[in-house]
Amino acid sequence: MWTLVIVLPAVLATGWAQSATYRFPDGFFLGASTSAYQVEGAWNEDGKGESIQDNFFHNHPEYTSGDTGDVACDSYHKYKEDVQMLKDINADVYRFSISWPRILPTGDLDVINQAGIDYYNNLINELLANGIQPLVTIYHWDMPQSLQYLGGWPNELIVDYFVEHARILFENFGDRVKWWTTFNEPAVFLRGYASANIAPGQNASGIGDYLATHAMLKAHARLWHLYDEQYRATQNGSVGITFSFGLEPLTNSTEDAEAAERARQFDMGIYAHPIYSAEGDYPTVVRERVDANSAAEGRPRSRLPSFTQEEVQYIRGSADFIGVNHYQTDYVTSGVTGISPSKTRDSGVITSVSRIDSSGFRRSLNWIANEYPGYPIIITENGLKDLGGRNDVTRINYFADFLGALLEAVNLDGVPVIGYTLWSLMDVLEWDSGFTAKFGVYEVDFSSPNRTRTPKDSAAFIAEVYGSRQLPEQYRL
Ligand SMILES: *[C@@H]1O[C@H](CO)[C@@H](O)[C@H](O)[C@H]1NC(C)=O
Ligand SMILES: *[C@@H]1O[C@H](CO)[C@@H](O)[C@H](O)[C@H]1NC(C)=O
Ligand SMILES: *[C@@H]1O[C@H](CO)[C@@H](O)[C@H](O)[C@H]1NC(C)=O
Ligand SMILES: *[C@@H]1O[C@H](CO)[C@@H](O)[C@H](O)[C@H]1NC(C)=O
Repeated sequence: MWTLVIVLPAVLATGWAQSATYRFPDGFFLGASTSAYQVEGAWNEDGKGESIQDNFFHNHPEYTSGDTGDVACDSYHKYKEDVQMLKDINADVYRFSISWPRILPTGDLDVINQAGIDYYNNLINELLANGIQPLVTIYHWDMPQSLQYLGGWPNELIVDYFVEHARILFENFGDRVKWWTTFNEPAVFLRGYASANIAPGQNASGIGDYLATHAMLKAHARLWHLYDEQYRATQNGSVGITFSFGLEPLTNSTEDAEAAERARQFDMGIYAHPIYSAEGDYPTVVRERVDANSAAEGRPRSRLPSFTQEEVQYIRGSADFIGVNHYQTDYVTSGVTGISPSKTRDSGVITSVSRIDSSGFRRSLNWIANEYPGYPIIITENGLKDLGGRNDVTRINYFADFLGALLEAVNLDGVPVIGYTLWSLMDVLEWDSGFTAKFGVYEVDFSSPNRTRTPKDSAAFIAEVYGSRQLPEQYRL
């Protein structure tokens, strides 16, 4: 028996291991994210139709702080500056969304707005000319208002309209767009069918949101199959969907562990399990609890509709990757809260405290990789809100911390993350917080008609990370 001993100076060995851990793997893409309503403006220009966001922000200042996306960052006119900013931070990819009513003003095929198609062609071509790949969100919450008049997402017939819209996108942009997500954060936008205070403000808690969930899942699967059957062979892209996620138990008790698992299934599993799990369909815990509560309420049917076996099979496997948005971790405990009926009440979970906590991010990524094995993951949003200012050292520390946790998840835990697009390229209309909540690595002067963009300190930090493809040494653990 013999032993080979290689003696490395400790400092050197540690340094070598660290630089491997804190380096992005080859092919990992890095970029930034926005969405149409939050940046484009030009809400009624060049033939664009009204969206549910236009309608809601115009009519419900009591829920929206009074700011609107009418002009926002004026990216409809300033997209070339946006692309230059992306280039300046060394981005490989830009995640943006396409406004449905800018393409189909009435939601129907009676009018196809060529000016809208031209705008996205110009943006995509400008990106590619600068070496930046587009990652397109098809639905970032702005349905044509005309389709909301027909009921919006709870009306399953709307799915056909969405498929027709997506076909236009694949036909016109799919030669150059290789990354698509169907929906951004269903857990958030479907609340628009559960409460009055988020667009389209359909206050049908525990019913409207489940009907909309059901149609949304069918719409997602239809888009993936459309792409898979008719476009993949020639366009060779990938289609996924993006969820918001970050849930952990408040304590180490078994009860809290079970509450956290229920929370994950109600918050993400309800949308992800039908698509990414081996067996498909809604998670058992969701099915059982909503069915039991519905029966106890004296209803003739569950508030959560059921899929046929054929539908379960059709939806199962209908994705090429998982998109994940993460900002903070909610720490949960067991308990009944929320109005009756509601998804919150059905879950039997109370969110006790929310923390900005990169270890929660790493654990969440591990949970996703274990729960839905075999799918690459893209972090489609991650960032920090503040009240503004260019010397945003807190944001730099946030990105350093979360990118460190991400790299540990990838390089130490083996979580298959393949890309990261931070939120956000610039300060945007931050939904109900208006222009007061700032997430950008670029500042936007919303008081100037020019919507002047200025880099914050975080833009320089990101440019360094993205350019060197590693976390600078002083930020490593
Ligand atoms: C929404 O519905 C709930 C429950 O039915 C009701 O208590 C609340 O007043 C409604 N809110 C609005 C703004 O209509
Ligand atoms: C399709 O894309 C993959 C990587 O995304 C690449 O390896 C492959 O060569 C591409 N195939 C074609 C036919 O373009
Ligand atoms: C849970 O247990 C782990 C180790 O088993 C410990 O590090 C952690 O602090 C505990 N957390 C809480 C909230 O008690
Ligand atoms: C807006 O931009 C134009 C052209 O660059 C410039 O002439 C003008 O002074 C700017 N206005 C403001 C308010 O910054």
